[in-house]
Amino acid sequence: MAVDVIAPKIIACSWKHQALLAELGASTFYETYSDQNSEEDMRSYIAKTYSLTAIENNLAESAVSYFVAYGNEKDLGYVKLQEVEAIDGLNGKTIELEKIYVRKEAQGSQVAKMLMDTAIAYGKSKGNKFLYLGVWQENYRALAFYKKIGFEQFGTRQFQLGERICDDFLLKLEL
Ligand SMILES: CC(C)(COP(=O)(O)OP(=O)(O)OC[C@H]1O[C@@H](n2cnc3c(N)ncnc32)[C@H](O)[C@@H]1OP(=O)(O)O)[C@@H](O)C(=O)NCCC(=O)NCCS
Repeated sequence: MAVDVIAPKIIACSWKHQALLAELGASTFYETYSDQNSEEDMRSYIAKTYSLTAIENNLAESAVSYFVAYGNEKDLGYVKLQEVEAIDGLNGKTIELEKIYVRKEAQGSQVAKMLMDTAIAYGKSKGNKFLYLGVWQENYRALAFYKKIGFEQFGTRQFQLGERICDDFLLKLEL
């Protein structure tokens, strides 16, 4: 059951948010996928992707932007966007919604929608025609959320987590 989130707000991140993004990234990734993966695979992926150094490197890239949602006096979720080169099947300037993660306690509230609205507004403001993302084909909750927003499938790709190969759908939203 989602908590009521009182007056959530979205902040554009800077280097000052590196520790927050590392912790929020690691804990929401763990909450989402630990049931389906070995502890070892989870730990090694988290160490590689959500270490302070990894986040610092991401923040230093001009193509990458993070936004974090706050509410009830804590950080509740984030979105990571990345400007990309041409993507097969998309004819026009494109930005990737690389990650959108909301803490379990705030899922089902307005936080995810606010993060998505921010991603859409940011993508448009940078002159993009498409927002695209990859989502695990068995992540039914995320798929339902993207469908409600208006995303449509245009391809597939694979994603490796430790030993496991996961099949992703590629989804696009015309901005
Ligand atoms: C994906 C995510 C950002 C969506 O945010 P959310 O707050 O859960 O969004 P919603 O509550 O609006 O849920 C979206 C839809 O999912 C469906 N849904 C809700 N609970 C569900 C459940 N337990 N199982 C399956 N579908 C469910 C519903 O269709 C819901 O639509 P509704 O509001 O019409 O009922 C959020 O669930 C999340 O952070 N998940 C973990 C991280 C993740 O998977 N990120 C995406 C990686 S690609």
